[in-house]
Amino acid sequence: MPQQPTTIRPGTPADLEPMYQLDRLCFDAPFRFSRAAMRHFASEQGAFTLVAEFQQNSGAPSIAAPHRDGWDATSPPAGTPSTQAPTLAGFIIIHLEHIHPRTQAYVVTLDVAPEHRRQGLARRLLEAAEQQSATRQASPMTLHVWTENTPAINFYERSGYVRTVLHPNMYAPGKDAYGYLKALTNPKP
Ligand SMILES: CC(C)(COP(=O)(O)OP(=O)(O)OC[C@H]1O[C@@H](n2cnc3c(N)ncnc32)[C@H](O)[C@@H]1OP(=O)(O)O)[C@@H](O)C(=O)NCCC(=O)NCCS
Repeated sequence: MPQQPTTIRPGTPADLEPMYQLDRLCFDAPFRFSRAAMRHFASEQGAFTLVAEFQQNSGAPSIAAPHRDGWDATSPPAGTPSTQAPTLAGFIIIHLEHIHPRTQAYVVTLDVAPEHRRQGLARRLLEAAEQQSATRQASPMTLHVWTENTPAINFYERSGYVRTVLHPNMYAPGKDAYGYLKALTNPKP
């Protein structure tokens, strides 16, 4: 498979509007987020976001933004070449929650643009999120998925997630969710 001109980096507030627009492409009501909900989930305490950028002019060098912790960084890094603006190909939002005595990670959402699907991008985003969560001593990773979202169910099961319990009417009356879980291995210190 050819190497994709995509770069994965931490999300910033500048990504919120493209994330909201991509979420509308990926989900119908009642599964999609409002702008306010997207902002809330991406910026709440314990949350982190990873975005996958697609470099339109793939002949040009693709330079990743340096790691920036937190949701406050807004300006592009000094020295970023002025190439054609990259577009958002996908993103993942994770919420880390401390439930004494451990920290648990939760996939709030995972979205890949239709034209970038089946190229391993969701897998790259999820693996990066799992690694960052494990680095922060979080385990397991948990998530919910609509019982009729077969592509996502296939994806998560192929990624090692195990179905736990059914949550009736989780999204709306008659729209149930399966719970899924995967133990994360903490990296050695
Ligand atoms: C589900 C979703 C995130 C998958 O993204 P993706 O980048 O296409 O997934 P990947 O290319 O990394 O797929 C990895 C593997 O997952 C499985 N998979 C992914 N999409 C699949 C599909 N539509 N049908 C069956 N299996 C699928 C396959 O095993 C695939 O490996 P393969 O392509 O070698 O067969 C994407 O379809 C999407 O954004 N859907 C809408 C939003 C959504 O439902 N998000 C998840 C719920 S939060």
